[in-house]
Amino acid sequence: MGQPRIVVATHRGPFRFTQESDGTFSAHQGAGGVVSALGPLLRDHSEEVRWVAAAITDDDRAAIHAGAAQADGVDLDLLDLDPNVHRMHYELVSNGVLWFLHHGLFDLVRRPRFDARFREAWDAYCDVNRTFATSIAAAADDDDIVLVQDYQLCMVPQYLRAERPDLRVVHFTHIPFCGPNSIRVLPDDVSRALCGSLASAPAGFHTARWGRAFEASTREVLGNDTAAPWFAASLGPDLPSLENVAASPEARASAAQLEDEVGDCFVVLRTDRVEPSKNIVRGFLAYERLLETRPDLLGRVVFVAMLYMSREGLPEYLAYGNEVEQAIARVNDRFGRDGWTPIILDLRDDFARSVAGLQRYDVLLVNPLKDGLNLVAKEGPLLNQRNGVVCLSPEAGAYDELGPAVERIHPYDIEQGAAALGTALSVTPEERAERANRLRALAGARTPADWLRDLLAHA
Ligand code: G6P
Repeated sequence: MGQPRIVVATHRGPFRFTQESDGTFSAHQGAGGVVSALGPLLRDHSEEVRWVAAAITDDDRAAIHAGAAQADGVDLDLLDLDPNVHRMHYELVSNGVLWFLHHGLFDLVRRPRFDARFREAWDAYCDVNRTFATSIAAAADDDDIVLVQDYQLCMVPQYLRAERPDLRVVHFTHIPFCGPNSIRVLPDDVSRALCGSLASAPAGFHTARWGRAFEASTREVLGNDTAAPWFAASLGPDLPSLENVAASPEARASAAQLEDEVGDCFVVLRTDRVEPSKNIVRGFLAYERLLETRPDLLGRVVFVAMLYMSREGLPEYLAYGNEVEQAIARVNDRFGRDGWTPIILDLRDDFARSVAGLQRYDVLLVNPLKDGLNLVAKEGPLLNQRNGVVCLSPEAGAYDELGPAVERIHPYDIEQGAAALGTALSVTPEERAERANRLRALAGARTPADWLRDLLAHA
């Protein structure tokens, strides 16, 4: 080998484990964009990569205790965290505070409240980050390169620097970064700790927009003469993996089933976690307004909403799931008629089904309030077989690359959103083909290997 190893640290690991009825364990690919981004590492660098991640489920923990938390082709270190400490780290700080802060989701009149419970949770966040750092430090060779991923692990760079200053560390944030006014919402010591840790190593983002916000926030918190080295490196889809899924019997069966459901209607598609920042309800409001203003489309278009529940430990997510279902029921009650359902909801968490949807859409709706990148906005154009149009919010990081070839959709303006959907459904076949070609070129311009190369170049 003779070259430094790469240590990857993610909150969710590349595999989750299931205990079978005979007591043995099987490994399945983990969920989430970060893992699919790093997947090519497994294939191309497997002998040089060590992967550190948290055990998420009881079965993951049981696999660790049975010595079975292993999978072919990866040197995996799954951390067995205290469940209560881990819950506070994940639900209360990572998702309850940092996710809301960086996506601008707080209703500031009511939340956040940084009380004694938060203080306990902040200690838990730091504990989990320290456990990651200690485990990385203990097994790393001199000169290893450590790639720390995302907002769940912001304190790892600082703890690693204290334990192993010889290691080369990069931190990459996959979500947006808030600006200097919002960072002031955090307690002073917390914003100082987070900005200080991220500023102690090169900090990567999917677009320069988030990098500039990080730099401005860091100056606000740590002082104007602080140097916070950052870089932008966007991720691209892993096309060979997508093509494999598209060719699989599961995706073909899903495609056939979808064809039965939608017939020759236009298809507006979205595929998302049930997640407030994805702006799912306003997407239905824009579609409802479209149906009001374009009676010619009644019976000729179907909105296929492939959604799956996520972060169900957080009340905001459960409440949002209810709002999503209510919005769908209202539109279907109002406009549906025999033989035509305006919105088809599919709550299965099934990647092959999403791939089949991405092949079939006429319009792909991606209208987040804010999104670090949104990989689906790039995957769609590469898979789609109908020269479909992408309606994309400029608040998604991917807009910075795809903007010239998409239909812009304002995430809050329902009238504009309805008009954008209407335009997307009405472009001529020639224009669709021309736009789709441009979009394919932009969406395919970056691969996961390019992204990884950029991270290593900044280490
Ligand atoms: C985003 C984050 C990931 C996270 C994923 C799913 O893509 O950037 O780090 O894994 O959401 O969220 P979850 O809370 O289910 O891990």
